Amino acid sequence: MSNNIHLTHNNIDEIINHLSLQQKAQIVVGVNDKYLTTNYVVQGAAGYTFAIDSLGIPSISLADGPVGVRITPEPTNAVYTSYATCFPSTTALAATWNKELSKMEGEAIGNEAKAYGVDVMLTPGINIMRNPLCGRNFEYYSEDPYLSGFMAANMITGIQNNGVGTSLKHFVANNQQTGKLYNDARIPLRALRELYLKGFEICIKKSNPWTVMGSYNKIGGTYTQTNPELMKTILRDEWGYQGLVITDWYKTRNTVEQINAGSYLLMPGEKQQIEDIINGVNEGKISMETLNKAVKNVLELIIKTPTFNGWKYTKSPDLKANAELAKNIAIESMVLLKNDSNILPIRKACKVALFGATAYKSIAGGTGSSNVNKAYIINVSEGLESAGYSLDADLKRIYGKYIDFKTDLQNKYPNSKKWEQLSYYRTIVPEMGLKKGENWIAEASSNSDIAIIVLGRDSGEESDRRLEGGFNLTSDEKYMINQVTDDFHKKGKKVIVVMNVCGVVETASWKDKPDAILLAWLPGQECGNAIAEIINGKAYPSGHLPMTFPINYSDIPSSKNYPFLDQKSGKNFDYTNYEEGIWVGYRYFNTADVKVSYSFGYGLGYTSFSFSEPKIKKVKNDYIASIKVTNIGVNKGKECVQLYIKSPNKSMIMPESELKAFGKTKELSPGESAIIELSFNDYDLASFEENISSWKTSKGRYEIWFGNSSTNILAKKSLEISTDKFWKVNDVLKPVEKVNELIINLQ
Ligand code: GLC
Repeated sequence: MSNNIHLTHNNIDEIINHLSLQQKAQIVVGVNDKYLTTNYVVQGAAGYTFAIDSLGIPSISLADGPVGVRITPEPTNAVYTSYATCFPSTTALAATWNKELSKMEGEAIGNEAKAYGVDVMLTPGINIMRNPLCGRNFEYYSEDPYLSGFMAANMITGIQNNGVGTSLKHFVANNQQTGKLYNDARIPLRALRELYLKGFEICIKKSNPWTVMGSYNKIGGTYTQTNPELMKTILRDEWGYQGLVITDWYKTRNTVEQINAGSYLLMPGEKQQIEDIINGVNEGKISMETLNKAVKNVLELIIKTPTFNGWKYTKSPDLKANAELAKNIAIESMVLLKNDSNILPIRKACKVALFGATAYKSIAGGTGSSNVNKAYIINVSEGLESAGYSLDADLKRIYGKYIDFKTDLQNKYPNSKKWEQLSYYRTIVPEMGLKKGENWIAEASSNSDIAIIVLGRDSGEESDRRLEGGFNLTSDEKYMINQVTDDFHKKGKKVIVVMNVCGVVETASWKDKPDAILLAWLPGQECGNAIAEIINGKAYPSGHLPMTFPINYSDIPSSKNYPFLDQKSGKNFDYTNYEEGIWVGYRYFNTADVKVSYSFGYGLGYTSFSFSEPKIKKVKNDYIASIKVTNIGVNKGKECVQLYIKSPNKSMIMPESELKAFGKTKELSPGESAIIELSFNDYDLASFEENISSWKTSKGRYEIWFGNSSTNILAKKSLEISTDKFWKVNDVLKPVEKVNELIINLQ
């Protein structure tokens, strides 16, 4: 066969006819960089595809991750070198409730990816926060599929607007790290459809990600990557997905079953998988038609990428502008949980007694594949000083010594490079015990104007979080909060707690002590600057919780079916029964009327807003709900409008309400108003009826609630649906054993 043919945008079928079986197998299996041919190599990317230079098929690169481009900032053989911007955690982005901001972040990440020659970004991760101990929750958006889905869809669109691909992950139900390589997620079908699949469905239909990444775990007793019910019946037949399904990294499965199920790019790739495919075809276990379909899917991805379309390194991205964006997203993500007598903002520069090891060694992001090789991290202490606050010198000295000592003690890679130390090997130090330091507290409370306590919680892909010292505070942390607040309050001075944490921690037992609490999440590289701007009023908080903060861990229904740390086998490792069904987060707490510490959607600002003039109109197939939001306070602010629907469906127990749309105002000055319009349709109102394998929107009166939290509804309308509507789906992904589902006794 003449080999002078080169891949173009229009000759994939012809190219496939020129490929040998060996070449076809090589194209659907990733290569690590030592096998790469002459193509340009993005050092430190997570994976690459196989190049066939003679046919003009380049190797493309796939790099992490959710909060920025993870590549090596000091490449050996590339034409450029630089860092990437470390944006706030995915959870923080979700807490902005700002779809446009998510798209802007996507644009910036896509811009950096394109500048550095990355073809596909392995993001966003949208698994549902079923339980706060999941170690990867910081990489995920929410306990709610609509908040997750629409925020992630905008991220995908933003990145792909740069001509760079994305990878929607981890499809599906990677909701625990313990045992994730083996765990069979046994999910009742209503919960699977309404919670765990819904966010993926929204993303596929709203933003069409170039790739979808199969998770490690099983669903319906079969690994997701070898499960045609998931990868074909639902993803392609029901949702119409045309893109490429790639596997998650390293853990291989049965190669023949993966290809036959529709996982068409095996990452990062092993030579054995190439042999498996060749043998599979020769033994008739993989049809040539299937292999050709897989190859076509990969080539269809390749011809979209910057590398195929003549990418040239032009100039570094505008890292300064992107850092400013990262800071502004961090600011907009922060949730003001408490602000007694409006002590925040503290506009005048004053003397701050800064407590907490994390204040001086702050946490920009989580660890694992979502890491970003950033150039710097602004600690809270540095941000406060840059903003003009002076820090108690003794405390600064003591914490500095403590942190240096602990860092040296814990540092397993003392000879690693500076950039590795900053990002990969940045040891988080445990809280310093103050029990022997009452005099420090006493002196600080005499010499300073206010106290700021920073609580830290990191998290990583490597494992789930621990309950004690993870969800619950340590005794040193509790002592610090109690002692400092007692001492400062005795002297008529205020105390602020800043939470530089990965996600949900226990708050109910101590939240009455400080005067203000600011939830800062993992704010990215601009951490300290963002926090300082909120504290001094140069900026204002407008974040709202993307998940519930319960009073006790045991209040959470899924706590009865979650592995303990380091569990190595058995129930909740080999399989997990999602007995809570749909009762996750606010769906449970608000319906079962169980008290929480902070509700889903909750967040304060430096001003307040009224909602008025609720309206609903039908425009073609959509309902347009609108609400007038007015700033009735004395400071600027942005308001988050959350639209909850209460369904009249009587054929099954319904949540008290469910989020179906949300929006955020632009900045409103005191007295200023804005109209927010939110759209939804009949399908959004549907619930999944397992016994008929169908979505159903029942006829009846739907209550439409406009709130700024799931428990603070500020305006209501109703909507009459005249006839039942159905959307039939396939009866697939049944759990291998019946799951004994939680029954909620309605009040
Ligand atoms: C990891 C993660 C996935 C990441 C991939 C490449 O194991 O599960 O999210 O994109 O490998 O690093």
